[in-house]
Amino acid sequence: MVYKLLFVCLGNICRSPSAENIMNHLIEREGLSDRIVCDSAGTSSYHIGSPPDRRMAAAARKQGIELVGAARQFQRQDFEEFDLILAMDRDNYRDILSLDRQGKYADKVRLMCDFCTRHDLKEVPDPYYGGPAGFDRVIDLLMDACEGLLEFAMENFKE
Ligand code: 4NP
Repeated sequence: MVYKLLFVCLGNICRSPSAENIMNHLIEREGLSDRIVCDSAGTSSYHIGSPPDRRMAAAARKQGIELVGAARQFQRQDFEEFDLILAMDRDNYRDILSLDRQGKYADKVRLMCDFCTRHDLKEVPDPYYGGPAGFDRVIDLLMDACEGLLEFAMENFKE
């Protein structure tokens, strides 16, 4: 069985593609590419089809991660398709769950920062309207969360 992770932010051009590509980097390093697969999406339609933000890609590259992908919007079918859906902030979390009126999939949706072990932040801050330091901070935070998430995913697919 393949364990499927979906990372979700607002635009799908900064935080969630970073999370997806960092996670893929860790998965490849651990030789788990046939066990865990990742995708990302945005709650908004603002940037559908766009590549990751240049400023975000520059921050990721400094840590040896290339950001690839094209933005798409989160859709109801994703609840069925994925085993775990990771919201970057509380707005994303709420917007995702607003598409699940019956609460059928609530257990699949988590905040990304729940998996951090080094950082205390509860949300991945939106870097879009800020300076370069904000992008570096997002990468550092996501590295932490992705490491915790990998441990969690490995526990789950062992079952
Ligand atoms: P993301 O960042 O949700 O991490 O992809 C943003 C991208 C675009 C906008 C806001 C946040 N925007 O308002 O267009």
